[in-house]
Parts: sequence; structure tokens; C-alpha cells
Amino acid sequence: MKLLLRNAMVLDRSGALQPHVAIMTNGSSIEYVGTQPPAAQPRRTLDLAGLWVIPGAIDPHVHVRDLGQWEKEDWSSASAAALAGGYTTVFDMPNSVPPTNDLEALERKRAAAAGAAVDARFWLGATETNLGDLRALLQTAPPDVAGIKVFLAGSSSNEIVRDPSSLQAVMTLAAQYNIPVAVHQELQSCLDAVDTGGIRRAASNHHRLRPRACVVQGAQLAIQTALQTGCTLYLVHVSTAEEIKLLRRLKPRGRIFAEATPHHLWLDSSATVKSGNHAKVNPPLRDPADCSALQQALLDGIIDCLGSDHAPHTLTEKNQPYRAAPSGFPGLETSMGLLLDAAVRYGIPHKRVQELTSGNAAHIFGLADRGSITAGKRADLTIIDPTARWQVDPARFHSKAHYSPFAGITLCGRVVATVCAGAYRQAVAEEG
Ligand code: DOR
Ligand code: ZN
Repeated sequence: MKLLLRNAMVLDRSGALQPHVAIMTNGSSIEYVGTQPPAAQPRRTLDLAGLWVIPGAIDPHVHVRDLGQWEKEDWSSASAAALAGGYTTVFDMPNSVPPTNDLEALERKRAAAAGAAVDARFWLGATETNLGDLRALLQTAPPDVAGIKVFLAGSSSNEIVRDPSSLQAVMTLAAQYNIPVAVHQELQSCLDAVDTGGIRRAASNHHRLRPRACVVQGAQLAIQTALQTGCTLYLVHVSTAEEIKLLRRLKPRGRIFAEATPHHLWLDSSATVKSGNHAKVNPPLRDPADCSALQQALLDGIIDCLGSDHAPHTLTEKNQPYRAAPSGFPGLETSMGLLLDAAVRYGIPHKRVQELTSGNAAHIFGLADRGSITAGKRADLTIIDPTARWQVDPARFHSKAHYSPFAGITLCGRVVATVCAGAYRQAVAEEG
């Protein structure tokens, strides 16, 4: 379906907001962007009346589940959640059932994602023993593989890379094939050595049971190994001031990129007192000073991408006692709203919003066809009402996971629609 969006406020690459812009799509790509669209051909026309349009957002960190865990989420519910949240591309994490550790598992995942309403990319999972499988897979030059994910500690994942030489081997392989390695930086050997004897097992102590030293040690190992091997590192969910300090010092030395999540940016461990297991997540929420360090890094470019770490589990699972309740919660439908709200409150420049939600991910992961609103790019757009106030209501999530540590908060700035490969999807607003 061809589409003409009139009267849009478009965020261009310089970070300026251009008023009265028309965007024409032709099938799945953008045909024209400017103030004087060519004479009308038959197309669906929408008057956006000054709503913002930014490049379709890319979420590099989503646990879609499906297959053996369809009761938590599947591609249909995850895609609906992604589009409602403003995301047109999602990168699916490999700690699924089955885990995406070889070609057979990837093929199953591709089949499950085939009908998804968003564009899907897949992280491959590293284990201590699957280097050969990964190599064989990369030799096929798979266009839909985002990179390789390494868990340095267990967290809804059975596949831990414990041995630093295995990490080195994975990173060497990734460097050879020029793909990024994402690292979950909590370090299992450190977690195993923690004396938790005197700490009551409760959600409000989750951050004490998985202490900050373990993420810092793991981040250090990941960065050092990436620098040694020349591999591109995508350090996921940075959560501490110490990691930010490391990144400030070491980012200039190599291809080191960092992700922050909305929950590590804007929630501290007191959320676990309020929300219990609904705020239980790995790495755990930390101190207000960590949030401040992350927020500063978001502003000044040390953080490259906003990743939701959408990690849905069933409400029944989350409502179990602390020890049994899995870590993680849905984020696709709150992530963009939280960033837009923060942009207003803390003056995050528009250019940063574009970089954090699509521009940097497109660059890091080599998605040259997206990340800006330009003729010839994919027709992926996120349409935003920057002044709409709304309350986070998990009952209305498209995700199967109807809970959130952000439940009940009011945000300013809302996704009203998305265009994904030319297909217009209403999120909340009426058509113009
Ligand atoms: O809290 C988390 N949940 N952290 C992870 O690293 C994994 C995720 C999940 O898959 O549930
Ligand atoms: Zn995750």
C-alpha cells in the first residue's frame, strides 16, 4: 500500500525538527521526503497535523520466547507489543527453548518469526562447546544474524561461557566474520563466591544477592577481551557507575558500544521494595547514584543504544516466592515512552533520541537501509505525539506479560502509530 504522510514534524539526521514535511512511501521503501511532494498518485493520505516522525525504532535486546516458551510470549504478541511501542526492528535473544546455538535452532526460529509484523534479527548463542557450529553458521553469511550473545553468568539461560579462553575464542571468531558480540556481564565465578549467608532471600535484596562487583568484573573482562581480539563489543544493560567509568576510559581504544535499559536508567533498587518480583531483573536495579551516572552517559554519548531487554515471563511465574520467580519483565511498550518523557524532563536533545533509538543501532549492526528518514531507505517510521500524557497500564499491553515495575506512572510523549516496511499500524490515535 502506498502512503502519503502530510504535515509531519520530521527529525532529520542533524537532530533538527523540520515542520510541514511530507513522506511518501512506495511499497516497503521511502520514495520522497520534503515539503513539495510530487503530484498525487493514488495512495492512502494521512494528515499528521504536526505529529513527530522519527526513523522506525530498533530494539537490539528483546527476548521474544515463542516455540518452547510460547506461553510467555510469541512472535505475534511480541510484534504487536513492538509496534505499539514504536519498534519496527527487533533483535531476538538466543536464550530461548531451544536456544539459538546452531543452524537447526536458527532455522526453527526463522520459521517461527516468518509471519512477524516487525523485521526480525537473531542473536546466536555461544556456549563452551559450540564454536564449530557458530563458525559453520557464519560461513553461510546469514543476513538476519545480529551477532553472538555471551552470558558470563546464568540468567534464564543454561548456557554460560565460564572460561575466559572460550570468550576469547568466540570474540576472535566474531572479529573474523566482522559481527558484534553482546555480553551479559555478570560473572558467574564472582556470583558463586559471594557470601550470601546473612542476606534474606527477598526481591528487595536481589541487588545484594547479585552484587555490583560481579557486573563490573565481567564488564572489565568483556572490554579487555574485545580490545585484545579486535572484536566489536555490544555491552548490554550497563547498570553501574563503575561500568560507565570503564567505558569512558576504554571506548576510544576499540569498537566498544554500550546499551542501557530504561529500568537501569530510571529505577533504583527501591523499586523492588514497591514492586517485589515484578522488578526482579538481572543485572539487578542499583543505587540512585548509578541511575545518575547512566543518565549522564545517555546524554553525553557513552551509551549508544537504548535496549528494552523485553523479558516476559508469565504472571504466575513472577508471583511465585522470590527464589522461584524468574528475572525480567516486559519493556517493549514502555521503553520509548520512558525515553520521550525523560527527553522532556531532562532535556535530552532530539538528535540523541534518534541515535539511541535507531541511528546508532543501524550503524553498529550494519543495517544501512534504516536509521534515518531518507528516500531509498526502508519505510520504517515511528509516529509520536510529544505532548500526549498517558499512564502505563500493563492490563493493556499487547505482550502476554501484563505487569511492569513502571505500572501506574504517567509519561509525557507517546507512540501513536508506526509504519513498518510501508505498512501503517495505528497504536492509539485517530487517523488524521
Ligand atoms: O532479567 C533477565 N531476564 N536478565 C537476563 O539476562 C535474561 C532475561 C530473561 O531471559 O528472562
Ligand atoms: Zn536480556
